[in-house]
Amino acid sequence: MSTTTPTARIFSSDNAAGTSPEIIEAVARAASGHAMPYGADDSTAAVRRRLGDIFECEVDVLLVSTGSAANALSLAALTPPWGSVLCHRDSHINNDECGAPEFYTAGAKLVPLGGDDAKIDPRELRAAGRHKAGDVHSVEPSVVSVTQATETGAVYTLDEIRTLGSIAEDAGLRLHMDGARFAGAVASLGRTPAELTWRAGVDLLSFGATKNGTMTADAIVVFDRSLTAELAFRAKRAGQLASKMRFHAAQLDAYLTDDLWLHNATHANAMAARLQEGLKGIPEVGLLGAADANILFCRLPQQVTEGLLADGYAFYHDRWEPGVVRFVTSFATTPQDVDHLLQAVSRHAA
Ligand SMILES: Cc1ncc(COP(=O)(O)O)c(C=O)c1O
Repeated sequence: MSTTTPTARIFSSDNAAGTSPEIIEAVARAASGHAMPYGADDSTAAVRRRLGDIFECEVDVLLVSTGSAANALSLAALTPPWGSVLCHRDSHINNDECGAPEFYTAGAKLVPLGGDDAKIDPRELRAAGRHKAGDVHSVEPSVVSVTQATETGAVYTLDEIRTLGSIAEDAGLRLHMDGARFAGAVASLGRTPAELTWRAGVDLLSFGATKNGTMTADAIVVFDRSLTAELAFRAKRAGQLASKMRFHAAQLDAYLTDDLWLHNATHANAMAARLQEGLKGIPEVGLLGAADANILFCRLPQQVTEGLLADGYAFYHDRWEPGVVRFVTSFATTPQDVDHLLQAVSRHAA
């Protein structure tokens, strides 16, 4: 993909979007003066307080620079090296993290499970959660990792999360949530962050932010605070304890101020809904799966895909099955961007 593709035509990923102006301003403010390093600054403390308010409980927070780091460090704290991580076969940890979860856990095994819309099927989880438990010849089922919103743009309902949480609890498994798009899920469901996480049994949340407005900062939200000390050592050892943590913190602080995180996610979701509505009216397009948040999958005729690419649109296609295309919207997508894309699809379909 050319780096000169006009912004309005990039639907490949939400991390192609820029940064919210409020966050840039916060970083600029943080640049003047001195602050204590390695997370001992006031902004880092403020982020922890804000997340405590948002999640309605005492939390600890580790600020990291990527979602993969948040996932791998979290999983490492939740499983022994001889354990297994039960996840969906389409999950980012299973497909897109270059083995970081296996590496950081010192060899735990990822066990991929099925389920529609990249949501873990509860029956499969129930079986896998007890499979060869206590048998030294096998890995020990240790942790379940769910992605909210999922990699295909669906959102687990509150009941679905609770069901998986209670299966995990019954089997003695810990629960991790990859929330790279957690804001989108909260905006879509209208349920509280607390209900969707620790009240349903989540021990650690990878709280994504870079896809939804920050520049370089994500977080691990620690609900089971007995894990904090270990996570702190692991983060330093992984090179994730930034000396100038105040810049990560400034980003997250602004992101959480005045519900910017929810405004951005609500907008990104609305842009995907607008796209979905428009595509419904084009008979040559086949919508696939649920688009509850900001990711939409559909089937396009070859000439439409080729026409869009020739127009300079950037999006993933033919990675899953021939003809299957993924469009991702973001906080920076405008209604005009969506409408222009829809016009282009109609034109090439005609
Ligand atoms: C579901 C999911 N989890 C985690 C990540 C984090 O990725 P990164 O390490 O690129 O920040 C992504 C990014 O695409 C993702 O889609």
